[in-house]
Amino acid sequence: GRLLILPDPNAATAAAARLIAQTIRNDARAVLGLATGRTMEGVYARLAAMHRDEALSFSGVTTFNLDEYVGLSASDPNSYHHYMRTHLFDPVDADPARVHLPDGAAADPGAECAAYERAIRAAGGIALQLLGIGDTGHIGFNEPPSAFDTRTRVVELDEATRRQNAPMFGGDPEAVPREAITMGVGTILESKRLLLLATGPAKAAILAAALEGPVTPEVSASAIRLHPDVTVVLDTDAAAALS
Ligand code: F6R
Repeated sequence: GRLLILPDPNAATAAAARLIAQTIRNDARAVLGLATGRTMEGVYARLAAMHRDEALSFSGVTTFNLDEYVGLSASDPNSYHHYMRTHLFDPVDADPARVHLPDGAAADPGAECAAYERAIRAAGGIALQLLGIGDTGHIGFNEPPSAFDTRTRVVELDEATRRQNAPMFGGDPEAVPREAITMGVGTILESKRLLLLATGPAKAAILAAALEGPVTPEVSASAIRLHPDVTVVLDTDAAAALS
């Protein structure tokens, strides 16, 4: 794998955005795996700027997001559907028929998970999967322990994750949904290429565990070390605990 350590969060998010843009410029019909969260806001802002200023087009691009909260409909302002529309899909020329997120409001979540796996396969698989890392070491919402062969499924969110994401829910961890639908670790490992982006001092300890500790289902992000084509992009604060 490649490890890029950039001086600050702006430089790190710009590097991640450039890798995504390159993928689209090499293949206008690329299939991208996308993530949400605070870290990715800067990535999508840069991609939107490249759409505006450099004619980067998303019209042929297919996307699959990692996860969605159970119980939130696509129109809920806290849903990841809403996040993606706000930060990327609306600002660029995304084709609504080609963008996919798990439906957190599905009447039959199990059937929704199976359909999501089929849709990824029908699209030919994911060429580049963007990943963040959570305080629990999760990628997607694969809380520990998540076996490395897990598929898209309903998971219970850790208390630490509900605290991590409470700021988006008025600061109250109890307001964060208890469950999510997430691609599994096995689903993620099937992407042709992985791009993990993390910034800020709060990520330093869990990154050291994921990148230098044991490869274990107790730290889902450690699974990326089993993948043959991984790029990790960090800022110096996030990289501070690496040896
Ligand atoms: C979100 C996702 C999560 C986040 C992680 C970091 O789709 O898959 O794994 O990437 O929780 O979130 P932030 O960037 O808010 O620290």
